[in-house]
Amino acid sequence: MSKRDSFSSKFGVIAAAAGSAIGLGNIWRFPYVLGENGGGAFFLIYLFFIVSIGIPVMLSELVIGRRSQSSIFGAFKVLCPGVSFFQVVGVMGVAAAFLILSFYSVVAGWTVEYTVLAIGNQLSDKTPEQLSVLFQDFSTSLWRPIFYLVVFMFLTAGIVIGGVKNGIERYAKILMPVLFLIIIILCVKSASLSGAVEGFKFLFQPDFSKITGNVVLEALGQAFFSLSIGMGAIATYGSYVQKKENLVHAAVSVSMVDTLIAVLAGVAIFPAVFAFNIQPDAGPGLVFVTLPNIFNQMGGGYFFSVAFFVLLLIAALTSSVSLLEVVVAYFTDELKMSRKYATLLGTILMIVLGVFCVIYPKLFDAFEWTSSNLLLPLGGILISVFIGWFLGKDKVKEEIEAHGGKVVILNVFMVIVKIFAPIAVALVFMKNIGLLG
Ligand code: PFF
Repeated sequence: MSKRDSFSSKFGVIAAAAGSAIGLGNIWRFPYVLGENGGGAFFLIYLFFIVSIGIPVMLSELVIGRRSQSSIFGAFKVLCPGVSFFQVVGVMGVAAAFLILSFYSVVAGWTVEYTVLAIGNQLSDKTPEQLSVLFQDFSTSLWRPIFYLVVFMFLTAGIVIGGVKNGIERYAKILMPVLFLIIIILCVKSASLSGAVEGFKFLFQPDFSKITGNVVLEALGQAFFSLSIGMGAIATYGSYVQKKENLVHAAVSVSMVDTLIAVLAGVAIFPAVFAFNIQPDAGPGLVFVTLPNIFNQMGGGYFFSVAFFVLLLIAALTSSVSLLEVVVAYFTDELKMSRKYATLLGTILMIVLGVFCVIYPKLFDAFEWTSSNLLLPLGGILISVFIGWFLGKDKVKEEIEAHGGKVVILNVFMVIVKIFAPIAVALVFMKNIGLLG
């Protein structure tokens, strides 16, 4: 058997996994979901879920991937051959990759369109009404969104086809630092606008009366979506991580960087939203309608709008790469296809599903809601139960303590994955389907 492709360095692992985690979820979804769910209170719950459940589930996925050296579909067959039940996680993972990428690529296509418009200076002469009509017309029309979706999917395929080291890692190492630089520039600009304080208050001052069962579910779903956990994307990357790398370090750094970027996206967006008196709860159109407005009202607007949409495009690209890789790993490992063929087939299937999402916006909403609020948390429960109760502490220990980790880390981790994470996620679910009143 030929040797499995792998990431070449620690920085490569972190750049690729952070590339998966940091995406439209941080810059497009986090601000609007936060805006719709009451601001600071949502943010606190979100942070709580990232630390208490997100990091442990991410570590669990890395363990599953590296230990099995397999796609998420095959991983449970390798790790626990006697228990076929867990293979459902593999099936759900591949299904979730299809669902997510199909609506993700639609929004990513909007991003390509807006990058083109921003570069061509076609957003700057529009009134707020015209910008909102532009977005409405564009997002509800047919051919342009489909065209840009296809362009985006081929950009994704172009990276994935290069393989793990020469494709995914190589581009992540270049694109992630660029993304970081752009977002810092945008934050500095936004924070220095007069009236920005209200935005900071909205983001960081919790109003606990806003917390409802639904807000908690949204925060949990957002935490899973943002970290790319619960469906095997991180496990797939884990299968390319060499034995010498420290998984605890990787899980903690990636989660922290992801959270930092979500906060920075909030800081780049809300102070400007408030400074220019725009509604924070504009929904999915927030970054496409309100931001161009803001750019038009500030000095250097052209530069900042190009920077922003390039940022969004980079973020979307490195995440969709990881979604496509889940499917490609399944095709190459399980169905023994060549990477080239697997990538092309995966891309074409995703495009077809994406086109359905363009044609039927209800499908778009249904895919978005089902994947982040249902499939990912459910996958997360099963992954943590598997690590906690089925894989065995010795094997977990071998994976996470190979670099002289502390015993206390292992013990806390085991308690979380065995008991806390499954119960907490199940409670949030039950509350939302009305079982807890
Ligand atoms: N984490 C990505 C984002 O925040 O945009 C979305 C995502 C990528 C979710 C990969 C799941 C996944 F497997």
